[in-house]
Amino acid sequence: MRILILSLIWVILLSATSGAVDTQQRAPLKQQVNHDQPIELLVQKMTLDEKIGQLIQYSYGSELTGPGGVKLDILDEIRRGRVGSLLNLTGAGATKEIQQIAVNQSRLGIPLIFGYDVIHGFKTIFPVPLGEAASWDLQSIQRSARIAAIEASAAGLHWTFAPMVDIARDPRWGRIMEGAGEDPYLGSLIAAARVHGFQGENLSADTTLLACVKHYAAYGAALGGRDYNTVDISDRTLREVYLPPFHAAVKAGVGSLMSSFNEINGIPATGNKYFLTDILRGEWGFDGFIVSDWGSIQEMIPHGIVHNKYEASELALQAGVDMDMMSSAYIENLAKLVQDKRLSEKQIDAAVYRILKMKFELGLFDDPYRYCNTGREKKMILNPRHLDAARDMARKSMVLLKNDKNLLPLSRKIGSIAVIGPLADNKEDPLGTWAAQGEAKDVITLLQGIKAALPSKTKVLYSRGCQIDKAEGNEIQEAVELAKTTDVIIAAVGESAMMTGEGLSRADIRIPEVQIDLLKALVETGKPVVVVLMNGRPLILRWVSENVPAIVETWLAGTQAGHAIADVLFGDYNPSGKLPVSFPYAVGQIPVFYNHKNTGRPKVENQRFCSRYTDIPNEPLYPFGYGLSYTTFAYSEITFNKDQMVMSDTLAVNVAVTNTGKVKGEEVVQIYIQDLVGSVTRPVKELKGFQKIMLSPGEQKNIRFKLTATDLAFYDREMKLVAEPGEFKVYVGGSSVDVKEARFELK
Ligand code: BGC
Repeated sequence: MRILILSLIWVILLSATSGAVDTQQRAPLKQQVNHDQPIELLVQKMTLDEKIGQLIQYSYGSELTGPGGVKLDILDEIRRGRVGSLLNLTGAGATKEIQQIAVNQSRLGIPLIFGYDVIHGFKTIFPVPLGEAASWDLQSIQRSARIAAIEASAAGLHWTFAPMVDIARDPRWGRIMEGAGEDPYLGSLIAAARVHGFQGENLSADTTLLACVKHYAAYGAALGGRDYNTVDISDRTLREVYLPPFHAAVKAGVGSLMSSFNEINGIPATGNKYFLTDILRGEWGFDGFIVSDWGSIQEMIPHGIVHNKYEASELALQAGVDMDMMSSAYIENLAKLVQDKRLSEKQIDAAVYRILKMKFELGLFDDPYRYCNTGREKKMILNPRHLDAARDMARKSMVLLKNDKNLLPLSRKIGSIAVIGPLADNKEDPLGTWAAQGEAKDVITLLQGIKAALPSKTKVLYSRGCQIDKAEGNEIQEAVELAKTTDVIIAAVGESAMMTGEGLSRADIRIPEVQIDLLKALVETGKPVVVVLMNGRPLILRWVSENVPAIVETWLAGTQAGHAIADVLFGDYNPSGKLPVSFPYAVGQIPVFYNHKNTGRPKVENQRFCSRYTDIPNEPLYPFGYGLSYTTFAYSEITFNKDQMVMSDTLAVNVAVTNTGKVKGEEVVQIYIQDLVGSVTRPVKELKGFQKIMLSPGEQKNIRFKLTATDLAFYDREMKLVAEPGEFKVYVGGSSVDVKEARFELK
């Protein structure tokens, strides 16, 4: 069989090189996955120009996801074999049309790979990734990525630029909304779940997408939270905090990776061999391909590390970047660099090989149109099962931040409700940014969700109150007058979609003032006020938390936002989300995160010469891991199977958790450790495990976590990953702060 296939390839290749086959009639290269030899054969048949062509990616169509564009006739470039991939073209019909040009009109007929930012859904939009992370529900997160892949692959796409796994400790950074928050352990599990969701079991299935883990590396550590800004960071922090989710994605089998825009310690990531080759390929064994971020090869010129695109191309290729997204640097310079012997053709071959291998694995050489099926597209897009999953994911993402006197859940017997706020009947913003092909018309607004959840006799009144950052006429007063006539006020406030995302950093992350004015006026009515927050980043919620009795963080919840929020408000779903990132008390605290170090002068109340602010607490307003439920949970003291463990032991850490309230609910039981004395200083807490459990009222469950020396290991003075003997604290609880603690010794 193999011989037959190889001979078939020969025939096709020979006829392709001799130009004997009528290009309109040519059959796609019949190929089998994972056979190295045929790819090598194909590479041998390629001219240098055709090889370089495979390394080129252009944005096609009207959608630009970065600055500038290309002035070339892209279709002609495809015919000439000078394009390997397009981004931003979607649709089964549209992709097929362009694929036909590559397959039938270029000399070798190598199919294109179509990439797109499928970040939190394709047409059925799920909550922004930071919101999904708040669910701490890996299965649901994986399912969300799976559904995104099913829809996107039905619309002709092969490749998503996701998951974004950048750890973010700075909520001013607009892209915090695209990741999983501040913690490397949770972030790593979510990274793997998303890779599995997109790529499925088998990349060649026509419902899977090649994933692309990004942005490598440390993009989230931009100084001041300003997007694209400089990153200056220790090797230790990189290894302990920023790199683990990338490593987890590689272990999960991710097939591609995107280099980031930022410099790291003086060398732009896109020209950084230490990261792209030594760590990624050398240490971790990554064998997929690397794409630059949009224009990031040429951006090494303003970074000030090269003079021109010629030098930029050399630096990027030497570092390990295989594909050039939107720089035109490779197409203009690689051939000359080979001629000048600054690069070898072997290096180009290696990059081409890696890209072709993925095309083979995707099955594109078997059938380049396998993802272009208009029938499947119609059936899969906004499929009712996908919408149900999006609603479920959205309600699982929501975090109950405050609930004085059990104001929530609201009774369905309530006579009247005022639904107020710029986000209350808003179809655009719940989609968030990077909403792929999501459309506002498909979004269920909060007002719609509430109306659908209530009997028709309930009076549901709506008034916008103000816009995101301004009010027209006496909008606020009108909303207040309307609210006065009702039993309870639900106020939807926060950020518009375009306040978080790429290039959308903010120095002031309070809720815009006009919305606070609206809230103040609503609170003054004396009616109970429930704040429904919509936002893509942690906000400064001081005034709200001090003055409003109930707060639900709903993030930007996607297509089914309104239904999902109503599920939570009326208790059809008992909130179980926990914050994946700290909510600062004030901007001046940033960065504030739970796994910080102790310092030599830890804070002592009312003492001056210690590490503290004189005007605000050290702690965030709402800590990592925090989130309430409509029920309450009690934790027993921690017990161990032994008080001492040797390096080869597994320590069992036990707690009993009881539902002490009146309704069924889920709790995320979290375990943290602290190494009290190390050869290098260790964080005050590090998440090492969690279990999400459902408990009926009165029910108790015994939870067991297992710790091994691997969980206790860290990078020592020689940067070796070791567990050191000594005393440890272990903390178990329902947040990073509300915990039981115990000690054990590692011998
Ligand atoms: C972003 C990437 C994205 C790419 C393609 C860039 O501006 O940083 O995250 O995948 O554009 O749209």
